[in-house]
Amino acid sequence: MVAMHAQLGDRSLFPDLRAGAYLAHAAISPLSLPVAESLRAGVALGETGGLAAFPHLIERADAARDGFARLIGARPGEVARVSSTSAGVSAIASALALRSGDRVVLFEGEFPTNVTPWQAAARARGAQVVFVPLAPFQRSLKEGLAALDAELARGCALVAVSAVQFQTGLAMPLAEIAERAHAVGARVFVDGIQAVGATPLDVVATGIDFLACASHKWLMGPMGAGFLFVAQAARAELEPLSVGWVSHVDFDAFLFGPGELRYDRPLSSDARVFEQGVHNFLGLCGLAASIELLEGLGAEAIWNHVQAYLDRVEPELVARGWRSLRHAEPAGRSTIASFAPPAGVDTQHVVESLGEAGVAVTGPDGLLRIAPHWPNASAELELLTAALDRI
Ligand SMILES: Cc1ncc(COP(=O)(O)O)c(C=O)c1O
Repeated sequence: MVAMHAQLGDRSLFPDLRAGAYLAHAAISPLSLPVAESLRAGVALGETGGLAAFPHLIERADAARDGFARLIGARPGEVARVSSTSAGVSAIASALALRSGDRVVLFEGEFPTNVTPWQAAARARGAQVVFVPLAPFQRSLKEGLAALDAELARGCALVAVSAVQFQTGLAMPLAEIAERAHAVGARVFVDGIQAVGATPLDVVATGIDFLACASHKWLMGPMGAGFLFVAQAARAELEPLSVGWVSHVDFDAFLFGPGELRYDRPLSSDARVFEQGVHNFLGLCGLAASIELLEGLGAEAIWNHVQAYLDRVEPELVARGWRSLRHAEPAGRSTIASFAPPAGVDTQHVVESLGEAGVAVTGPDGLLRIAPHWPNASAELELLTAALDRI
């Protein structure tokens, strides 16, 4: 019997994980024992009880939503369950009252999740999409903010940005972006999937308006579950289109009594208007267990642990000719460290060879991406360096 106690740098809650060094949390995280057992408990209840499983499932799904709200410093009513990051972006892109001629500011190099729905909304509403390059932010956060200022000065209704960039691990200065956006009357939508769970992010301190985040990366839960944060102050401006029967106040009253089946119930006045219908409750059971582990470990402790790990990885790669894209300023760093290959080296070949050697990494857009989380221990580094030397 394995103790269900999480400890930084200790992977005993992942007894069957094959890779000797799992450094691909920026893609898909492995499931810990508590997550797997929470999923199995949900499955067993569904097998034996069907409808009778529902109270347990909804209790765990609520726990996941409340836990996520605590992780980002939101109030419970400001968070809705959604199926993916994309679903959260789409919900707001279709609800925001963009007008003809409005400008939507996006970033060149973003994961398309935070681009495609805005392009579609802009096309439908006659708004205009403009891109700010990420390169100035990569050079210095101040230089990046100056480039953003120049774009905002031309007018802006919405800024959409990732908290952490998926390729380079660049952490965007969210508080500064929100302050500038608000000064010109724009709202800020954040794709939080590469941050929440490992890089501390507080929606009140940063002042952002919306955030979407799915389960399977830094939250370390199963795929197909996620959350959408809608700041209460921004909710009143929205005209939700992406709604369903669960979006109403007292949406389930008709299931429990006569004369309650009505179509005129008001829509929920908080984020939960976007919950639409039933959710991936099994996945949320697993996610609840993972969020409990993360809360138990503490956001700051996880962050410090991963930074110490990356502080050791970085010089090893640099010594082997890789160029580090980890930001020079601590505020621009995250739990992802990416490296550009030495001349003539094919990153994808290195990613595959490392995989064969038991080191799980990813290589988006030609960069070697190292993404450790709380279970990683620096003793694994030898596996990485020895494999790199062999390749
Ligand atoms: C920055 C970023 N946003 C979004 C996603 C995925 O979005 P979704 O949850 O909609 O699949 C990824 C990776 O898969 C990502 O790296």
